[in-house]
Amino acid sequence: MIISASTDYREAARRRLPPFLFHYGDGGAYAEYTLQHNVSDLAGVALRQRVLNDMSQLDLSTRLLGETLSMPVALAPVGLTGMYARRGEVQTARAADRKGIPYTMSTVSVCPIEEVAPEISRPMWFQLYVLKDRGFMKSVLERARAAGVSTLVFTVDMPVPGARYRDAHAGMSGPYAALRRYVQAALHPRWAWDVGLRGRPHDLGNVSRYLGKPTGLEDYIGWLGANFDPSISWKDLQWIRDFWQGPMIIKGILDPDDAREAVRFGADGIVVSNHGGRQLDGVLSTARALPAIADAVKGQIALLADSGVRTGLDVVRMLALGADTVLLGRAWLYALAVGGQAGVANLLDLIEKEMRVAMTLTGARTIADISRDSLVRA
Ligand code: GLV
Repeated sequence: MIISASTDYREAARRRLPPFLFHYGDGGAYAEYTLQHNVSDLAGVALRQRVLNDMSQLDLSTRLLGETLSMPVALAPVGLTGMYARRGEVQTARAADRKGIPYTMSTVSVCPIEEVAPEISRPMWFQLYVLKDRGFMKSVLERARAAGVSTLVFTVDMPVPGARYRDAHAGMSGPYAALRRYVQAALHPRWAWDVGLRGRPHDLGNVSRYLGKPTGLEDYIGWLGANFDPSISWKDLQWIRDFWQGPMIIKGILDPDDAREAVRFGADGIVVSNHGGRQLDGVLSTARALPAIADAVKGQIALLADSGVRTGLDVVRMLALGADTVLLGRAWLYALAVGGQAGVANLLDLIEKEMRVAMTLTGARTIADISRDSLVRA
């Protein structure tokens, strides 16, 4: 099968994966309006075509928080990546590393930090939630530091989990979930052999090491549910700021007031994000939220954005709306499910190609040249 566009991977992933996994990754919260608007609002951002400017030399590289990125893209944290391909976190991290961009490991990864870090040459980023179990947070941060993690990505938009109705319909949760997952796996033999059997153990690697016992998929929702901390506030983040000496990015900001608060707090960066439409349905799409946040804090803090980015054109759109670097989530997850490390590598090459076309035809030779002037004003 020839995958010639970055968006081709979604349909291929739908065929490859047992439905409970496809829908867990693909789905959003409640009626999925925000999820849809993330994609459609971004696709509706009109690029301004410019021609005849000698665009033979393009430079896509950028600097972010002391690191050089070959393009202004980083891989967002995605839980359970190791269920989508055999030892999926290792394969994904390697592809990002070869491309010269950061990979962010999720707290709720299948592979633990110690399995992934030795496989790559550039330091990875590590994502952490605000959890009730502060002992776990402390210990995992120590392990991240020991493994050479450069940047902490702190997720703050999950004080409670959003209701993902697709999970219940597809067998990720709900009645007879375990039985339904077995049946689905049996009906997807390529996945069952490659990932279901040869990709074991399927536990939450980072959590198991801390608890000293295996944690299976059944424990995943339960552990997270029991550990979300709705009491969290800015002052609870202070000990993490004190504890973590490296750069700290706060992920899940959607309002200019919260962005200003993050600057006052001393964060090094923020991710403008609605968690891919997986938390509060009905909030603004990132494409609509980003410009006001950029007006409030651009230049004072590293400005990252995610949610709805599926192509290289979308990356350029997010940059034009004000982002310094863009996170990809579902886009790489689908590619990983279809082609493993080579799939993610190909996806990143396609994203780069799409970016090059967009830069050439908007007259941007460097990343710094991409601005609101690259857009058609309403
Ligand atoms: C976890 O962060 C999720 O969105 O499922």
